[in-house]
Amino acid sequence: MKYDFTYYNPTKIYFGKDSLNSLHDELKHYGKNIMLVYGGGSIKKIGLYDEVIKILKEESKTIFEYGGITPNPKYKEMLKGVKILEENNIDLILAVGGGSVIDCAKGMSVSKGYKDPFKSLWLDFEPINENNIVPVGAILTMVGTGSEFNGGSVITDEDRKIKMGRVFPSSVYPKFSILNPTYTYTLSEYQMLSGIFDTFSHLMEQYFSGDDDNTSDYLIEGLMRNLIVDTKKAIENPKDYEVRSNIMWTASLALNTLVGLGKTQDWEVHNIEHQLGAYTDCAHGMGLAAISIPYYKHIYKYGLDKFVRFAKNIWSIDDTNKTKDEVALEGIDALANYIKESKMVTHIKDLGATSDMLKDIAYSTVEGGGYKKVTHEEIYEILKEAF
Ligand code: NZQ
Ligand code: ZN
Repeated sequence: MKYDFTYYNPTKIYFGKDSLNSLHDELKHYGKNIMLVYGGGSIKKIGLYDEVIKILKEESKTIFEYGGITPNPKYKEMLKGVKILEENNIDLILAVGGGSVIDCAKGMSVSKGYKDPFKSLWLDFEPINENNIVPVGAILTMVGTGSEFNGGSVITDEDRKIKMGRVFPSSVYPKFSILNPTYTYTLSEYQMLSGIFDTFSHLMEQYFSGDDDNTSDYLIEGLMRNLIVDTKKAIENPKDYEVRSNIMWTASLALNTLVGLGKTQDWEVHNIEHQLGAYTDCAHGMGLAAISIPYYKHIYKYGLDKFVRFAKNIWSIDDTNKTKDEVALEGIDALANYIKESKMVTHIKDLGATSDMLKDIAYSTVEGGGYKKVTHEEIYEILKEAF
C-alpha cells in the first residue's frame, strides 16, 4: 500500500429481508422529531412508506414529512429542507430512497446556519460546522451510488448550472443504513442498469490510477468480475434474491471508500458526467456508461500496463502474440460490449444532450484525471465522441 491512510466508517449496516425491523431499535437513540425525506413517490407504490410511518408512530415520534426530492437533487429542494430543520429542532433525518434522496438529506444535515451553503461548502470547500450537523439514517431503495455508506453529497444548482459533489467527513455518513434487496425489485430495468453501471464506474475510477501493486486493486477486480456475472443474471431474472443482494452489497462496497485506500484515483468520468447531468438531468449511471468508452480510449496509453491488466483479469483477453496496445484496446472493447449487450446508454444524445451544449459542458467540467490530466479542450473532444 503506497500511501498512508486512516480508515473509519461509522455507518451501521442492517442487511437483508428483515432489516427494516432494526428501525425500531435505531429510533430509540434519537429524540422525538424525525424528518422523513423521500423522492417522487416510489416508496408509496412499494408499500415502504406505510411500513416506515407505522414504525415511527409505534416509537411515538413526531413526523415532519418532506417528499418530492427529484433525481439529481436540486439546491432549492435542499434549501427547503434546511428551513424545515432550522424551524423544527429535528433530531434525525430519515432518508428513504436512492442516492438522490440520501445525498439531499446529507446536504441538508451540514447546511444549517449557512446563507449560501452550496457556495460555502460545495464550491469554496469551507470546513463544516460539526456542532450543527443533524444525524441522517437511510433506508435504501435504489442501488448504485454508495451514498448509504459514505459521506458523499452531490447537489445540482440549476441557477449556477453546476452539479457538484463533496465527500464530507465521517460525522456526515449515515449513522445507520437499512438495505433490503427486495425493495429494489420494483426498479425499472433502466434504473437497475443505471445503478449497476454507476457501481462499475466507481470501481474503474478507483482502479485506473496508480501502477503500484496493492490490495485495493485486487479487491476491485473481484467486485468487477462479480458484477459482470450478476448483471446478466439480473436482466434475466430481476427477482433473483441472491443476485440482487450481491449487486446491492457490491455497490455499497464499491464506494464506502474501502477499495480506494492507499492508492491514487481518477474520477474524471464522474466530473464530466456531473456537468452532463447539470445540463440534461440524465440518469447518472447512464451518463457514465456513455462517457466511459471515449474517455478510456483517450487516456489508456498513459496507463497502458493497467489497461492490459484490466483486459486480462476482468475480460479474460488472451494476450498471446499481441502488443500491449492491442490487448488494452480489446479490454476497452469488451467493456463497450458489456455496456451495449446490457442495453445501457451508449450516446449522450440519447440522454438529452444537444450538440450546442457540448462546449458549455466541457468548459464547466473540473479538469482532472488519473493517468492523465485532461484539459477542457480534451473533454470537449471526448464529449463529441460520446455524442
Ligand atoms: O423519486 P422516486 O419516486 O423515489 O423514484 C426514483 C427515481 O426516479 C426511482 N426509484 C428509487 N427506488 C425505487 C425507484 N423506483 C422504483 N422502485 C424503487 N425501489 O429511481 C429513480 C432514480 O433514483 P435516484 O435516487 O436519483 O438514483 P441514484 O441512486 O442513482 O442517485 C443518483 C444521484 O446520486 C449521485 C448522482 O450524481 C445523482 O445525483 N451520486 C452520489 C454519490 C455519493 N453520494 O457518493 C456518488 C455517485 O457517483 C453519484 O454521483
Ligand atoms: Zn457515480
